[in-house]
Amino acid sequence: MKLINKKLMPSYNRLPISFEKGRGVWVFDKNNNKYLDALSGIAVNTLGHNHPVLIKAITKQASKLIHVSNYYHIQEQVILADKLVKLSKLSSVFFCNSGCEANEAAIKLARLHGHKLNLDTPNIIVMEGGFHGRTMGTLSASGGRSYQAGFEPLMSGFIRVPFDDIAAINNIANKKNKVSAIFVEPIQGEGGINIPKNIKQYLKKLREICDENKWLLIFDEVQSGIGRTGKWFAHQHSAVKPDIMTLAKGLGSGVPIGACISNKVTTELMKPGKHGSTFGGNPLACSAGITTLNIIEKNNLIKNTVKQGLFITNILNQRFKDNKNIISIRSLGLMIGIELNFPCSDIVNIALEKKLLINVTSEKVVRLLPPLIINEKESKVLCDRLINSIETFLKSYE
Ligand SMILES: Cc1ncc(COP(=O)(O)O)c(C=O)c1O
Repeated sequence: MKLINKKLMPSYNRLPISFEKGRGVWVFDKNNNKYLDALSGIAVNTLGHNHPVLIKAITKQASKLIHVSNYYHIQEQVILADKLVKLSKLSSVFFCNSGCEANEAAIKLARLHGHKLNLDTPNIIVMEGGFHGRTMGTLSASGGRSYQAGFEPLMSGFIRVPFDDIAAINNIANKKNKVSAIFVEPIQGEGGINIPKNIKQYLKKLREICDENKWLLIFDEVQSGIGRTGKWFAHQHSAVKPDIMTLAKGLGSGVPIGACISNKVTTELMKPGKHGSTFGGNPLACSAGITTLNIIEKNNLIKNTVKQGLFITNILNQRFKDNKNIISIRSLGLMIGIELNFPCSDIVNIALEKKLLINVTSEKVVRLLPPLIINEKESKVLCDRLINSIETFLKSYE
């Protein structure tokens, strides 16, 4: 098989490798070389690769019923919605296939809410450095110009403020702008693993401003949700409850599924015919979602995430504490970013040579998002290979 195929649209810069199979935190190329996957398909493979219980569940479901239309009741959706509602303490779920679609549903709900407030052109407050997807709506909501350039005209109706800056939002509230919602990642993923200085306070203040102004508070937990940060959802590091939360990535542990979860009042804005998705929440995807959540619970994976996150971060902090080229190491659970003081995308290739899969986001931030099943021995291998890769990279700059 040729790795470079001109019949694929060149929308990705791909690394010169492909994988044939996986097991746990490991993936194997065609020569059976074994790589530690510290990226999990970008926060997707919650249970690692080929988890036997997940394989059994989706195989069983596939042999019964893969897909039926949302014209009919789908039992697996009901079971998964029930679980998500319990975990989030919200009210109802709309299922789709990806993060950007979950966010499109949230944006549409925010628009409906704005019109209910009698705003003819309601705006949504979004963040610099935020990332919400690649559809026209979600790229317009995203913070980086690189996602938007060339796709003008963008969708209007977004007001952008710096992340973790309450004063900037108050300023907008005071100017009586027509706003219906704040849309924010509690921890920015693509933006560089940016954690608010005081997540409890930041989210609490956002909640207060939304309540005072009748705005919706929408959390994009597509990357930070499903146990990734050591809580079911990153916002649960605070006492704040959003009006809407979006999920995808880790929810199906590799099987595509997205979810937009809403509170009772916002749910009432949705009426038959207002939104839909052909594949959204089909029995196969939902069975993957149900099984992923069950295994996280049964195997105490959230506890493991906290433990392994601390283990990895401690080793990295120890090693790099006096290194002037490392600006900071930011982490919550297994969402880990190591920021260098200059662009460092070459580290990805160096790590690949050392049989470690990582990624660099926001040019200077090495990002780790290993599967939540990683154990201490594997975390140690991850750290050894990563330290080796970063040091090799830094040496090439001396
Ligand atoms: C926070 C966040 N929201 C939305 C998305 C878009 O998700 P998808 O690629 O599944 O559309 C991503 C993807 O990286 C993300 O990190």
